[in-house]
Amino acid sequence: MLRVDIITIFPEFFREAFDYGIIRRARAAELVTIKAHDLRQWTTDKHHVVDDRPFGGGDGMVLKPEPIFAAVESLVGANRREAIPKSSRVVLLSPQGQTFNQPLAADFAGCEQLVLICGRYEGVDERVAEALVTDEVSIGDYVLSGGEPAALVVVDAIIRLLPGALGSETSASTESFAEGLLDYPHYTRPPEFEGMRVPEVLLTGHHGEIARWRREAAQDKTKRNRPDLLKK
Ligand code: 6GU
Repeated sequence: MLRVDIITIFPEFFREAFDYGIIRRARAAELVTIKAHDLRQWTTDKHHVVDDRPFGGGDGMVLKPEPIFAAVESLVGANRREAIPKSSRVVLLSPQGQTFNQPLAADFAGCEQLVLICGRYEGVDERVAEALVTDEVSIGDYVLSGGEPAALVVVDAIIRLLPGALGSETSASTESFAEGLLDYPHYTRPPEFEGMRVPEVLLTGHHGEIARWRREAAQDKTKRNRPDLLKK
């Protein structure tokens, strides 16, 4: 069973986030437990302060190191990267991280415990990245105001890879991405909608020709939308 712990200043953000679809079913089947923890519970001052002004000046506030180190110590039993068990990953979600992708999702899905630290855009004290986390991860080249939406994305991508999380559905689309192509286009009834017809080959029942059409359509779509994937 995979254990996911999320460290955040906005635990309420996740209140219903894991109550739908494949994630809900994976939790019900006890493939995964997910808990969002309020970072403020690991502060020791009266006002539960989690941030402070940046040394050297500048805009915005920076998340302090002490509550984050204490949180990981209490959730993992260690607060230095070298002491984190091999079966655990401590992930900092930040725009400075390596870009999340399907191989990294598969890597995380093989762990026993995943701790996700939600940064805020203005910053997290760098000693967290230097000495505590095993992985610093971004979900793409754009700016979010905090790591919380990124944590949702990462958890979703991981859970659908857990053995037993998917029914008969959709393992093919993952394989398609693993092979470096986008998925092929899908159609359902009606065969004609406002003058737009479903490609005839899909209505024929000729499985060999359908497979060939799908391969070519996936190539065309990849060339149009993600030419970078074809160059690899
Ligand atoms: Cl993980 N955090 C923030 N703040 N912005 C991001 C991101 C993460 N990934 C892409 N943009």
